[in-house]
Amino acid sequence: MPDQWRIQYDFNKSEKIVFRLGLTSFKHVGVFPEQAVNWEYIYENVKSISKKVEKPKVLNLFAYTGGSSLAAKAAGADITHLDSIKQVVSWARENMELSNLDDIRWLVEDAMTYVKREVKRGKRYHGIILDPPAFGHGPNGENWKLEEMINEMMKCVSELLEPENSFLVLNTYSLGFSSLIIKNLIEEHFEKRASSAEIGEIYLQATSGVVLPLGVVARICLRLGLLKGLKKIPINTNYTFFPDQAYLKRLFIILT
Ligand SMILES: C[S@@+](CC[C@H](N)C(=O)[O-])C[C@H]1O[C@@H](n2cnc3c(N)ncnc32)[C@H](O)[C@@H]1O
Repeated sequence: MPDQWRIQYDFNKSEKIVFRLGLTSFKHVGVFPEQAVNWEYIYENVKSISKKVEKPKVLNLFAYTGGSSLAAKAAGADITHLDSIKQVVSWARENMELSNLDDIRWLVEDAMTYVKREVKRGKRYHGIILDPPAFGHGPNGENWKLEEMINEMMKCVSELLEPENSFLVLNTYSLGFSSLIIKNLIEEHFEKRASSAEIGEIYLQATSGVVLPLGVVARICLRLGLLKGLKKIPINTNYTFFPDQAYLKRLFIILT
């Protein structure tokens, strides 16, 4: 097996993103392929918002090697990519270049510190994507603890998100974090604002039939005109996403 290899994900015939993968000491290879279901959502939302807003602004927090940033960029967003590890941000930049994309804003920062600062500055984004780990560290040793800090993070995110023509993707992979906790968080911070919301589990099904849980995801859209008369978000908690064959068929290993 080579130390490094490439994969490609096709949104359609002309728009593709490329990742350089490799074996690492931290036991990741550089991509979480099940996130393809979120890349599709991000790509579609940026395309649809672009019909009303020139270059929608998207913020990707805890952004790792950049799958979601590349999806947003491929669809035409003005994207800010933030992660606390410099080498991981360099890896994401390499993926951008391999994907023939450019002009992503790279930040090596602590996610919580950054969103608080953006709230103070009165900044707004059309899309916010978060895939926070259960525990993590900022570049200056700042602690990130999902269970203790996600509420404050979502409060800041709700202030940063444009009130219309916007979307949010919150992905969590922590066995102690149920879809009901995510539902409560979304209702607390986005109730009466979202025009559509869906919460579900991402999973893969083995050929034996056993289902491997890969995280809980919440996705919401805020669109003008659809809100009238809504008292509560119509959250569909039965919604289940999974990378079925349609998604996996778009993922290729590049032979060099
Ligand atoms: C689970 S990965 C995200 C996976 C990625 N979204 C994807 O699907 O490709 C979590 C990322 O959060 C970063 N991280 C951890 N603590 C952080 C913090 N306090 N601020 C910013 N990024 C942090 C890690 O470096 C890691 O790249």
